[in-house]
Amino acid sequence: MSNNSAWLQRSLNSVWHPCTQMKQHPALPLVPIARGEGVWLEDFDGKRYLDGISSWWVNLFGHGNPQINAAITDQLSRLEHVMLAGFTHAPAVELAERLSAKTGGALGHAFFASDGASATEIALKMSFHAWQNAGRTDKREFVCLSGSYHGETVGALSVTDIPLFSDAYAPLIRKEHVHLAPSPDARLAQPGETAMDVANRAADALAQLFIERQGKIAAIIIEPLVQCATGMAMHDPQYLKRVRALCDEHQVHLICDEIAVGFGRTGSFFAHEQAGIRPDLLCLSKGITGGYLPLSVVLCTEAIYQAFWHDDTRRGFLHSHSYTGNPLACRAALATLDIFDAHDVLGANRKLSAHITQRLRAIAMHPRIKHFRHRGMIWAADVDTDLPDFNRRFYAQALQRGLLMRPLGNTLYLMPPYILTTTDADWMADQALGALNATLAGST
Ligand SMILES: Cc1ncc(COP(=O)(O)O)c(C=O)c1O
Repeated sequence: MSNNSAWLQRSLNSVWHPCTQMKQHPALPLVPIARGEGVWLEDFDGKRYLDGISSWWVNLFGHGNPQINAAITDQLSRLEHVMLAGFTHAPAVELAERLSAKTGGALGHAFFASDGASATEIALKMSFHAWQNAGRTDKREFVCLSGSYHGETVGALSVTDIPLFSDAYAPLIRKEHVHLAPSPDARLAQPGETAMDVANRAADALAQLFIERQGKIAAIIIEPLVQCATGMAMHDPQYLKRVRALCDEHQVHLICDEIAVGFGRTGSFFAHEQAGIRPDLLCLSKGITGGYLPLSVVLCTEAIYQAFWHDDTRRGFLHSHSYTGNPLACRAALATLDIFDAHDVLGANRKLSAHITQRLRAIAMHPRIKHFRHRGMIWAADVDTDLPDFNRRFYAQALQRGLLMRPLGNTLYLMPPYILTTTDADWMADQALGALNATLAGST
């Protein structure tokens, strides 16, 4: 069987696709992908799609990257997997060491898991448990930002503020110990205000909350610089600086969820670096393996690690997942770090990013576009439309043109792999504009 329609039907019969109302699929056909190379995906009928969103923000150096392929193949010939409780292996150790070095040694003790939501769960549990072990038993509340997204397991949903994903499970989600703080989203600027003013206003509100809940808050969890899933809401690094100072003042852990924004996506290796701060807990996933294999990790401070160091087993961090620290995934991550080390990826991205921003000018200046924004290798813009299902219509228009883009509500965004050529970037910008105009013209 080698064409799209056969795979499409078998998939609809057998696979329950994520983030999808399955009943809508006949109107919006699935795209069965046969192969990938560089920024391109190819279906079973030979049609190619430029992966403008890095396959849900995971792919950094292209599909079928020869260096990552070779690393995984080499690892396959040595060790595919071994449990990480009671055992260890070179890829996990080397990756833990190299990630810690990327934080200048400020964070370490890598705790591995398999996906982003698990990293969120781990960070929340670690913070709470560390305070309990330290005798601060009143510290059992968390703060997240409005519009936050930290994953979709029940614990992660308690610090996620996207009703579409959480409302259906409201009775299961423990919201009573979570406070929602205002987002520093720069789009909230009042006339005459700068992004920094918005950041300071949001930080002032947080300061008030910390005072009101003095001694009760364990941690605040933040997506540094870009709150992606809510619609690429971007904020000034000033907010992170202020939050770090407030956390120090009130003895609250700062959890930076860099699952989407780490590994160069915002222009620095880690997003929090742009504020000149370090978190107490750092969650990483997605780009960590270059988009190859499921892997996540939480790094923490020495102080948090020491809070668990005890003769009593129950004071240890007993969390576990079967595939924790899988060697193949760790090797893919090491190969990804090798690429960062061997090439000036961030410098090259700066040049590419300036080029893409220039080529997206027609979208930025479009009469129906508001809040065109950009940070590092992320671009976003809000479309002024009340067209029902704008996002699905745009998605279909873009696909027809061979471009994979999946708007978040009325927000268009691009998050391409870093290896995009300027020729492909120009083509991407033209197709995005074409899809926008066609969607607004009401065609499907
Ligand atoms: C900031 C952030 N945190 C957590 C997650 C959850 O990651 P996963 O989908 O791997 O569970 C995501 C996923 O988009 C994310 O963007």
